[in-house]
Amino acid sequence: MKTHTAPVITIDGPVGSGKSTIGRMLAERLGILYLDTGAMYRAVALAARQRGIAPDDDAALGRLCGRIRISFSRDGGRQLVFLDGADVTGEIRLPEISMLASAVSAQPCVRAAMVAQQRACAENGVVADGRDAGTVIFPQAPFKFYLDANVEVRARRRHKELIEKNIPMEYSGVLKEVEQRDHNDTTRLHAPLKPAPDAVILDTSLMTIEEVLTALVSHIERGRPLLPYTQTGTQETC
Ligand code: DC
Repeated sequence: MKTHTAPVITIDGPVGSGKSTIGRMLAERLGILYLDTGAMYRAVALAARQRGIAPDDDAALGRLCGRIRISFSRDGGRQLVFLDGADVTGEIRLPEISMLASAVSAQPCVRAAMVAQQRACAENGVVADGRDAGTVIFPQAPFKFYLDANVEVRARRRHKELIEKNIPMEYSGVLKEVEQRDHNDTTRLHAPLKPAPDAVILDTSLMTIEEVLTALVSHIERGRPLLPYTQTGTQETC
């Protein structure tokens, strides 16, 4: 059993719920690490595509996870993602990698490898965002949030994000991608997207980023003092 004295805060939710933006801002505000767990599945998806590994070949993907190195660094306000030392920050956001990430993340060997790495990051406190941060990675986290929003709002946010990144795509295609990923991520067997029973659930459809951030910060400030975090959750094996 591992005990951390720094806070562990989880933010889960579907595509476009605002969890990455809020997660990054909250971590900055609290002066602790921000862990984008989705970026790790995206990096695995990219590595698999580069090597021609099928997204449902669990054993080969598991071996791949043991060989690749995923790391993060900061460039001002931006978080950079590296795969074996190469900057893949832009490439992992391409729509085809989003769909592949959703597929590879359903594989148990991939999940086991990523969860182990994610837990190892929590020593000095972390704001972790993803799909299973509150249910599987950090089930004992003292603060858990689940952000949601209606699907059209989320697709519009994602569309705007892609345009800002110079990745042109029709809104209708984005909506389809979001719906497909929602379906994959919520219906898979291993660690499906769902709120932890003790998560605070927030519908962000009509909220600004600042309003969501204020809601989370005030919940943390009102809540229990930031207790030591005890890691007792079971880890998936393969
Ligand atoms: O958060 P994102 O859109 O960058 O995540 C990409 C995919 O990775 C998502 O469709 C599902 C998967 N994922 C996951 O299975 N578990 C996580 N903790 C984070 C992401």
